[in-house]
Amino acid sequence: MKKLILSILVMSVIAVACTKSTDPGKHAKNEIDVRVEALLAKMTLTEKVGQLNQYSSRWEMTGPAPEGVDSMALYNMIKEGKLGSMLNVTGAIATCNIQRWAVDSSRLGIPLILAYDVIHGYETMFPIPLAEAASWEPELAQLSSRIAAIEASAAGLHWTFAPMVDIARDARWGRFMEGSGEDPYLGAKMAYARVKGFQGDDLSAENTIAACAKHFAAYGFIESGRDYNSAQIGNPTLHNIVLPPFKACVEAEVATFMNAFNTINEMPATASSYLQRDILKGEWGFDGFVVSDWNSIGELIPHGVAADKKAAALLAINAGSDMDMEGNAYVKHLEELVNEGLVEETLVDDAVRRILRIKFKLGLFDDPYKYCNPEREEAVMRCEEHLAAAKEAAKKSIVLLKNDNNLLPLKKDGLKIAVIGELAESKDVPLGSWRAKAVTNSAVSLLEGMKNTTGSSSINFAKGPDYINGYRSFLTELQFNTTNRNGMSAAKNLASKSDVVVIALGEDCWQSGEGRSQTDIALKGLQQELLEEIYKVNKNVVVVLMNGRPIEINWMAENVPSIVECWHLGSEAGNGIAEVLFGDYNPAGKLPVSFPRAVGQQPLYYNHLNTGRPTNREGNVFWSHYTDQSKEPLFPFGYGLSYTQFTYSDLALSAGEINEDSKIVASATITNTGDVVGEEVVQLYIRDLVGSVSRPVKELKGFKKISLKPNESQKVSFEITTEDLEFYGASGEWKAEPGEFKLWIGPNSAEGLETAFVLK
Ligand code: NOJ
Repeated sequence: MKKLILSILVMSVIAVACTKSTDPGKHAKNEIDVRVEALLAKMTLTEKVGQLNQYSSRWEMTGPAPEGVDSMALYNMIKEGKLGSMLNVTGAIATCNIQRWAVDSSRLGIPLILAYDVIHGYETMFPIPLAEAASWEPELAQLSSRIAAIEASAAGLHWTFAPMVDIARDARWGRFMEGSGEDPYLGAKMAYARVKGFQGDDLSAENTIAACAKHFAAYGFIESGRDYNSAQIGNPTLHNIVLPPFKACVEAEVATFMNAFNTINEMPATASSYLQRDILKGEWGFDGFVVSDWNSIGELIPHGVAADKKAAALLAINAGSDMDMEGNAYVKHLEELVNEGLVEETLVDDAVRRILRIKFKLGLFDDPYKYCNPEREEAVMRCEEHLAAAKEAAKKSIVLLKNDNNLLPLKKDGLKIAVIGELAESKDVPLGSWRAKAVTNSAVSLLEGMKNTTGSSSINFAKGPDYINGYRSFLTELQFNTTNRNGMSAAKNLASKSDVVVIALGEDCWQSGEGRSQTDIALKGLQQELLEEIYKVNKNVVVVLMNGRPIEINWMAENVPSIVECWHLGSEAGNGIAEVLFGDYNPAGKLPVSFPRAVGQQPLYYNHLNTGRPTNREGNVFWSHYTDQSKEPLFPFGYGLSYTQFTYSDLALSAGEINEDSKIVASATITNTGDVVGEEVVQLYIRDLVGSVSRPVKELKGFKKISLKPNESQKVSFEITTEDLEFYGASGEWKAEPGEFKLWIGPNSAEGLETAFVLK
């Protein structure tokens, strides 16, 4: 009931905000095209190139700045029609001012399109995208993106650089937190939902913003997880694993794409015609525009494919990069390149058309100021309804990894509870990385959440040793405390006098995110020592993990009875976690990523190929394995426990064969055999046994989240058509190949009931 009221509440806020739209920018597509052509005809080459130029505001930089572009230069360029877009200008007043300057001072008065990295909320922070993917509820991602758009648009923004839809397989990469994990099917569902959330049904509404599918492509495949590094992948992996979430964004009518910093098979993505022209704008018919990543055009020089900025501009425009973010390459050289006959002006026109089209679709030509609304800004930021939605999202993103002897849920009365660890009292860490305009220290801490739920009397806190030494920020490297043990004995003392210990461990929010690659993904600082010391004096330990990537937790998984994966859950983190710890909400999240046993297993993912030597048949070493560690994950993709138990039975197929004109319905019965109501994410996997290229040992092909009362059963069905069996094979075509398939319905990627069928 509570849930229903909340959803009605949240949906009505959105509805109210949506109906405020005066709708002046809603034109039929061809009407927009007519207006675009009319404007284009009036533009000089300088003005056209200006539309392709994007600078950051000088006061909020998220990368190295080009020389010679100070605030004054920037204003002059706007006046001369040499700037089409800005990022990092925020707030109703500031955006309005800069827009007024563009509209009033430039010859054609073309409005700027203003962008910002609104990744998991604007002021109200939702769980980091990796966490939200653990809910396996695309509707939730759609709602949080919707709310993020409502807040961002009220602050005058038109465009978010989200969703990041990079499939990631290597936990060393700091940006794991920003995507939906390792699986293309789940990733595509989340990507689609997020685009729909940001953009709504009508891009011209004052509370919707243009989305941006990034980073095109294969940024999540960079070698050894080191940020900005190179990616080497074959075409089947590119098409079958990397591209599906991007394609889903195109299907959701995403307005823009961002290319990527990395090379892919030696070619920087920013200069890749194959990606941007052949696949995106050609095969997929994408009619929005592509923005470069931050100076990724300039970085074609250190990549070694361009000798100077002029050559870089030439490569990028030819390859289909429409807008130059902070590269200063187009604005400096494109005009000259056209005049010298090295670039066709029609290419520039095409890029300008794409950008203008989105500006028209946003309604900016009808009312350039419609997004900057100080009253709306004041009213919507962190409003009650948004925070309520953030709490829902937080609790649904939590994954119960271990719960021996049902230590959880905890009783609210009569227990002496020790809460331990710096992360437990942090009001900042749960906000996560890429936190847009989240106010520092504005999250509900774990400690506060537990006190809110129980009243404070039974809860005592000890911080233990410091986790981080000194300053923490978006820009700088963190220093972990490994020497100062002050606080250790007080924490141990408290633990020894308590019935149960809740200890928060994991990562600082600035430990993951851009530029935060690590070679070691185990607990840092004195966290492991603290855990072991506490465990010596009290075995009833519940670990609350806060992290932005999979981390190495072998000792914990072996010794500690309960582990709750709580990621970085946003503004309402503490309240959401407390609901789970005290059983007001029965956790139902499932891992969107495999948890490794050792960093040396990276990249680790469930949908790997079989290899020629998958098993140990002869008892010798000559098979695909490690001699010092299992090759299996510690916790597999799709894994997560509940306070109840579910059994799977009666797996059935409607037919044993499928062909192009038929479908198969696969079903299984799921029963709640425990004592409490619970939700279960029922997962469908297949394996194509023989293909023209080697096929993954399992592939997720469907999932459904159901809720069951104790002793209740439900038959869950999935429809399979040949389309679900298609892949990019040796012929370079996307098609299903006849043969035998295995099929599983189960609770995660490592378990499930198994059967088989044949594609004729
Ligand atoms: C670089 C990041 O890779 C990208 O994701 C982000 O949108 C831009 N910087 C702008 O901040």
